[in-house]
Amino acid sequence: MANILHLTASPRGAASHSRQISSEFVQAWLQAHPGDTVTVRDIGRQDIPHLTEELIGAFYMPAEHRTSAQRELLKLSDELVDELQAANLYVFGIPMYNFSVPAVFKAYIDLIVRIGLTVTSNWEGQLKDKKAIIVTARGGGGYGVGESRAAYNFEDPYLRTVMSLIGVTDQTFIHVTHTSDDLEAPKSLAAARAQINQLVEAQQEQFHRLAR
Ligand SMILES: Cc1cc2nc3c(=O)[nH]c(=O)nc-3n(C[C@H](O)[C@H](O)[C@H](O)COP(=O)(O)O)c2cc1C
Repeated sequence: MANILHLTASPRGAASHSRQISSEFVQAWLQAHPGDTVTVRDIGRQDIPHLTEELIGAFYMPAEHRTSAQRELLKLSDELVDELQAANLYVFGIPMYNFSVPAVFKAYIDLIVRIGLTVTSNWEGQLKDKKAIIVTARGGGGYGVGESRAAYNFEDPYLRTVMSLIGVTDQTFIHVTHTSDDLEAPKSLAAARAQINQLVEAQQEQFHRLAR
């Protein structure tokens, strides 16, 4: 059974491609697995604070020595980590901004990479046996390996590395590209939808094989 965490990082609503396609993955998944659960975390439209000196102090203070003010400061970070621990299928919708992730997603990462909770001090990721489906959306294209703008793509390497750091090594990317090009965008959206169908079907087969 999957407990899905659907995280969206675009500030845009219905116009957002990463929101739309990641939602379509969740809907397709639920159609195939109706009993599975979904938690939604919309960081694109939520205030995710940047780190402060006090918050960093609270992170590194052993839990038994934390003051009530420090425990209060850690509330959101704890809540976000709890969500990640409770889910086993992450479906992320993340735009490309200036060749990387949106600042809000980086702020989120700074709250959830927690020594002792999501990673050890030896860099051993603690979020084990999780799967991530990462939908990106980009106004342009050519960011793939060997393509003209591959060297500009700081988004995929960052996502791959930081997700692996916390233990999430099973990652599948769905890239929606050319979103600002009326001719090219529909082709990319169609390819993304075909990939969603394949992924959900492949998962069904794996499940049936295990059940046999
Ligand atoms: C601040 C900002 C920076 C952007 N930077 C890039 C970029 O580096 N490369 C690119 O291909 N598109 C870039 N775009 C276009 C977005 O990636 C594109 O609009 C994408 O569809 C946004 O995701 P969304 O549709 O989920 O909101 C940028 C858009 C904005 C608003």
